[in-house]
Amino acid sequence: MVHTRRSVRKYDPNKPLDPEKVRQCIELATLAPNSSNMQLWEFYHICEEDKLKKLSEYCFNQNAASSAQQMVIMVVRKDLWRRRVKSQINYLKSIYGEKPTKEYSKRAKFAFTYYGKVIPFSYADFLGIFGYVRFTLYWLIGLFKPIYRQGRNSDMRIVAHKSLALAAQTFMLAMTNINYDTCPMEGIDTLRIKKLLHLPYGAEINMVVSCGIRLPEGVYGDRFRVPFDEVYKNI
Ligand SMILES: Cc1cc2nc3c(=O)[nH]c(=O)nc-3n(C[C@H](O)[C@H](O)[C@H](O)COP(=O)(O)O)c2cc1C
Repeated sequence: MVHTRRSVRKYDPNKPLDPEKVRQCIELATLAPNSSNMQLWEFYHICEEDKLKKLSEYCFNQNAASSAQQMVIMVVRKDLWRRRVKSQINYLKSIYGEKPTKEYSKRAKFAFTYYGKVIPFSYADFLGIFGYVRFTLYWLIGLFKPIYRQGRNSDMRIVAHKSLALAAQTFMLAMTNINYDTCPMEGIDTLRIKKLLHLPYGAEINMVVSCGIRLPEGVYGDRFRVPFDEVYKNI
C-alpha cells in the first residue's frame, strides 16, 4: 500500500468516485493517532461540481486540483479545545462513573486531572501572552529536569497541525487501499478556502487532498528519494 500510494496529478475524468467510499476513508482518518486525543480537526468533503471548480481556482488550478473528482480539506480546529475537553470529561465520566474524586482509581484521577487541568493550562491563551508565560516557565523548570517545551501559541499550532497531517496520511492510505488515488496540496490560497467554507478566525487550513483515479500519465515518473543512509541514523 505504501508503495502504491503516489501523488497523482491527473485523474481519469471517466472514472467517478463513490462519495460514500470517500466518506468512509475520512472516517478511518479520524482513527489516526493525535495529540492528547484532542481531535482538533475537521474534514470538509467537496463533491459538487461548482464548489470543486471554485476550490480548484483556490489551488491555483494546478493539475492535481483541476482534474479532481472530489476533494477533502483538512482543517485544524485548535479553537475547539474547550469543546473537546468537555467531550473527554463526559467520556471519562461515562466509563469511570460520577463520584467524589477520592473514590476514583489512580488512573481515573490522572485522566480527570489531565483533561481538567493540564490540557486547559496548555491550550489557554490570550493574545499569545499565556504562551510566553508557559514557555518561560517550562524553560526555567527545564534547567533542572527534562520538561515539555511546547508552550507558545505557535508551538501549540504545530502540535495540532502535526496530528492532522497524520490523519491526512491515514486518509490517503485508506484511499489507496480501495484503489482510489490522492494528492496532498499545500500550494493553495488558505484564506480564500477559509472564506469558502465560512470558517471562523481560529480555524486553519492544513492541506487540501484531491481525489480521483489515476491516469497513467498522472504519476510524474518514478519515485525519487535521497539515499536512505542520508536520513537513517542508528544511534
Ligand atoms: C504537505 C504536502 C504538500 C504538498 N503540496 C503539493 C502541491 O501543492 N502540489 C502537488 O502537486 N504536490 C504536492 N505535494 C506532493 C509532493 O510533491 C509529493 O508527495 C512528493 O513529491 C513525493 O511524491 P509521492 O507522494 O508520489 O511519493 C505535497 C505533499 C505534502 C506532504
